[in-house]
This record gives sequence, C-alpha cells and structure tokens, in this order.
Amino acid sequence: MKTQVNGNTEGVKDAMLARLDSLYGYELEDGAYLPRELMKLLAECSCAMNREIAIYLTRDGEIVNVAIGTDCDVELTDYRLRRNAERLSRIRCVHTHPDGDGRLSDVDLSALKIFRYDAMTAVGVKNGEPTFVQTAFLGENDGILMDEPVRWYKVPDAEWMNRIELSDEVVGRESVQTVADDREKAVLMGIESRESLEELRQLAETAGAEVVGSFLQKRDKPDNALFIGKGRAEELARDCQALEADVCIFDEELTGVQARNLEEVLRIKVIDRTMLILDIFAQRATSAEGKLQVELAQLQYRSARLIGLGTVLSRLAGGIGTRGPGESKLEMSRRRIRERITELRRRLDELERQRAIRRQRRERNEIPVVALVGYTNAGKSTLLNALTGADVYAEDQLFATLDAVSRRMETAEKTPYLLTDTVGFIRKLPHTLVDAFRSTLEEAALADVLVIVSDGSSPEMGHQHDTVEQVLEELGATEQKRIEVINKCDIADPPPSLPGAILISAKTGQGLDDLKDAIAEAIQETYVPVTFMIPFSRYGILSEIHAAGRVISETHTDEGTEITVMISGEDAGRLARKYGSEIIKETGKEVGG
Ligand code: GTP
Repeated sequence: MKTQVNGNTEGVKDAMLARLDSLYGYELEDGAYLPRELMKLLAECSCAMNREIAIYLTRDGEIVNVAIGTDCDVELTDYRLRRNAERLSRIRCVHTHPDGDGRLSDVDLSALKIFRYDAMTAVGVKNGEPTFVQTAFLGENDGILMDEPVRWYKVPDAEWMNRIELSDEVVGRESVQTVADDREKAVLMGIESRESLEELRQLAETAGAEVVGSFLQKRDKPDNALFIGKGRAEELARDCQALEADVCIFDEELTGVQARNLEEVLRIKVIDRTMLILDIFAQRATSAEGKLQVELAQLQYRSARLIGLGTVLSRLAGGIGTRGPGESKLEMSRRRIRERITELRRRLDELERQRAIRRQRRERNEIPVVALVGYTNAGKSTLLNALTGADVYAEDQLFATLDAVSRRMETAEKTPYLLTDTVGFIRKLPHTLVDAFRSTLEEAALADVLVIVSDGSSPEMGHQHDTVEQVLEELGATEQKRIEVINKCDIADPPPSLPGAILISAKTGQGLDDLKDAIAEAIQETYVPVTFMIPFSRYGILSEIHAAGRVISETHTDEGTEITVMISGEDAGRLARKYGSEIIKETGKEVGG
C-alpha cells in the first residue's frame, strides 16, 4: 500500500498504515497540546505493533509527520529552518514508549536540544492504553525545563502551550546575535534628499547591511499613519518583496504607530535612522561608560515606541535595530525597562562623578586639553595617530571611535597638553544620543582648544561643518579657541576652502607641522606669563610654581627669588588664593621674555 507514514513500515499491516495515514488530516482544537483521543489512538497502534510512533505537530495544531520506529527507538526529524538554525523549529514531537515508561530518555532530551523542537513529549503505553506523559521544553542557555510525568488524562494543555511561547522567547532572544551575523538585505526610504539618503546608505553598511534598494519620495510632511502615503507604502511593499529585503530603513524618526503600521504593510522589519545609529553605537561601544550610555539611549528611544515595535519585532526578532550592548530588550516589559533605566542612570552618574574627579585632578596638574572634533569619518582618529604615534582604531566606517581617547603630548617648547579624540558628529544626531553622550561630548566642550577636522574629500563638507557647529553650540562649546583643519587634502582635488583653515593630510603628513604650530600657539594664548616674588622664608612655594608652569626666567635677589613662568590664569589665581596675592609681582604679556 502507498502510505505517507515514514520510518520503519516494513511488516506493518495495511489497515494499521491506513489508520496512521488518516492522522495527517487530523486537526487539533485551538490551544490543545495533546488531546486524549489522539493519545489513545497512538497507544493502541503503538501497542498493536510493539513499535514506537512519533508524530510532529505545528503550533497551529496540524500533524505534519507520522513515523514508525522500532520497539525502543524512532528516528527523529530535523525541522530547523536554514536561517533560523538557532530558533525553535515551531514543531513539537510527541512519541510513544511501548514499554509503559512515560519518562523522557536522554536521547529524547538531546534530540530536543539539537533539533530545537517546540517541545518533546513521551507517552508511556501499556496494554494498549496510555499511562504517564512527560514533556520537556528548551530553556535559557540550552537548558532543559521538565516537570515530573503526569497521568495521561491530566495533560495541562493550556500550560504546556504557554510554555512553548515562553521557551520561544528565551531561545529567540539568545539567537538574536546569531541571526544578526547574516548580512541583512536593506531597502532605504527617504523623504528629504539624495544626500541624506546616501549617508543613510553608509550608515546601513556600517551596521552590516547590504543595501539592495533605495527610494526617495519628496514630501514636506510625513503621513501620520504610514510616514509615506498609503499607495507608496504598498508600492514599497512590492519593491521590498521583489528585492527580497529583510529590513526597510527610514531616513527619519518614525513614531511607534507609523513603525507598526509600516511593518504590517511591508511585512518585514522596519527601523528608522535613529535606531540604526543606536545600533551602530551599540556595536562600537567599548568602554563601560560608552556601553551604559548606548543602552540608556536605546531603552529611552524604544520605551516610547514599545506599543508598536515591541510587539511586532518579537515576531521578526533579530538583526539591525534590535542589538544592544546590554541584555536583550526585545521582550522587556515596561516595568523592567523603567527599572533598568533607573539603574543605568545611577551607574552613569557614578561614572560621571569619577570623571569629574579625574578632570579636576587633570586641571590641577595644569594640562590644557586640545580636542579633535568633527563629522564622523573626517579622519580624527587617523590624525590623532599621526600626531602622537598612538594606535587608535581608525577605519573607513562611520563612528569607528565612540569613546574619547586621550594622549599626552608636548609642544616644541615642551608645554604638555592632552590631545583628545571624540565621537564623530552626524546630521540628525538623535537627541537621545546627544543626551546620553553628553558627558563624553562635554570633554570636547570643556577643552581649552578645539581642532575642528573637516573631510576635504567629501562633497558634503559644507553641510557637515554646519552640523558640527550646531552640535558644539548645543553643548555650549562656543568660547574656546578654534583651529579649523581641512583633512584628506591628498585626495581632495582641489581642496575646498574654509576661511583660516589649515590644509592637511593625516595620511601623508602634509601640513601637520603647521597644525602643531597652531596648536602650540593656541595653547600659549591660554597661558600668561606671571612673575612671582618668593621670599627666602617661603621657599617651599617655588617647587609648586615649577610644577604649575614653564619657567621663563628665575633670578635670585636680596629679598628672595623672582621667577617668571607661563601659567594658566586659573593656576595663578589658585596660587594667589593659597599663599596670598602679594606673591604675584606682575601678570601679563609684557612681563618676562
Ligand atoms: P569616527 O570615528 O567615525 O568619528 O571617524 P574619524 O573621524 O575618527 O575617522 P578615521 O580616522 O577613522 O578615518 C576615516 C577614514 O578616512 C579612514 O579610512 C582613514 O584611513 C581615512 N583618512 C583619514 N585621514 C585621511 C587622509 O588624510 N587622507 C586620506 N586619503 N584618507 C584619510
């Protein structure tokens, strides 16, 4: 007889095969795990043949496979999908143990793990009747969750169906990282400009996506429900399908409602520019503080959108826009998010306090800070390397550097200073991020000298420079001395002009001496020559003055020592407060020499 039943069918009577074949049409009621009627049928058949029977059920309650084994073994089937090798297979396996024992064997449990079944159930069978039933589910870190066997008529259908969902959540969460390793195919959708869309492409590639299509629909104002109009959204859905896209990235911030509606129309994951940037930041953050800042920004951004994205994403979990430096947030409840935000804030405050202490120490040690700021990819890290010989991560990707890196330097006149690389700026820099990175960016705001690095090879240099100016203004960094630099002059043909800018190439070294001179000059400007008169009786003060500045002259007179040093106004004030203003004889440019 022709049968759909798989496995060891040899010697099985036709009537039995026909009975088992009929299981393929069997449909479970909604919410049922394993109906008694089905258990009885399996027990009867299994006993009559003295062989194991396995059936495979989908989550929708359909039997998709029936297989016969030997008296102690049935070959189990692998249902894992190619792309989701780590996720649950959405199929549960129920099989009989004709020796009467309803307990799961070690082999059963390892099959559960390997094949990632929704659940694995053994039904003990004796004298043609079911006895005990035991079910196991996958838990965290590949652990197995299993209760004691229950009597066959006490199978808790609702509870077991629920546990499949729970297991799916845990396992799905763990597999996010793995799924993310495949390059996702992304379609981009913008409403502003080609330039902005082009930058979005770079961002998407930096995040690890392969951009398979990009569309622009010029609009003054986004549509409330769908961001783009309904007709365009439907067209986009067809484009995404034709291009086999996994994700559609929008060039603006989406509201929770828009994101959810779009996911429904497009039937693929939808993320926006902010989530994309946050995702890149999440992958790049290396310091403890950077990680906390990114996680905080992600949580804040997502918590506002949880109603939409949270639910839809759990179905389409994984990949760009869903990765974080901390624990997975896909299934986090609002309460957990609130708690986590509070915890992150507390830890960040603590780090910020420590940072303030470090900063004070540095100020006390009298080292001026020179910060390199600029648009992402302008070449700040490369420049820091070229100037210091330090090995800072420099890559042709956006936001290669997230955490401020500082190096101690000296000018030709041996004035020490601290050179700091900062996180790259970008247009439409999400506000959550500016806030989260405020303390890191404040390093720049608090610097004594700002070196503004522009990418001379970018046709967008003008806009990028405007963005940098805007962000600096937002940070309140408007007072310091600025040095404008146009980098990548080796490939800029001709280099664009910017008033007063020094043309350099961090790569070839062109113009670096001029830049060093400009830095030294700017530092000197923040220093003033101060002449102190220290009587012999207070000789101890001299060593402190030596430590605070660079000595220009030192003469011994009858009253004591007259010493002129280049020193910051702040330090001179501190010494005067500490030892009395009478120790200062003269202040200002005309003094010393
Ligand atoms: P973020 O970390 O994103 O802020 O970037 P960054 O400003 O630190 O840029 P980075 O130093 O990582 O350089 C970005 C890319 O530009 C790298 O591929 C560098 O090799 C390249 N680059 C930097 N300076 C020059 C230069 O003077 N000439 C040329 N041709 N390429 C350069």
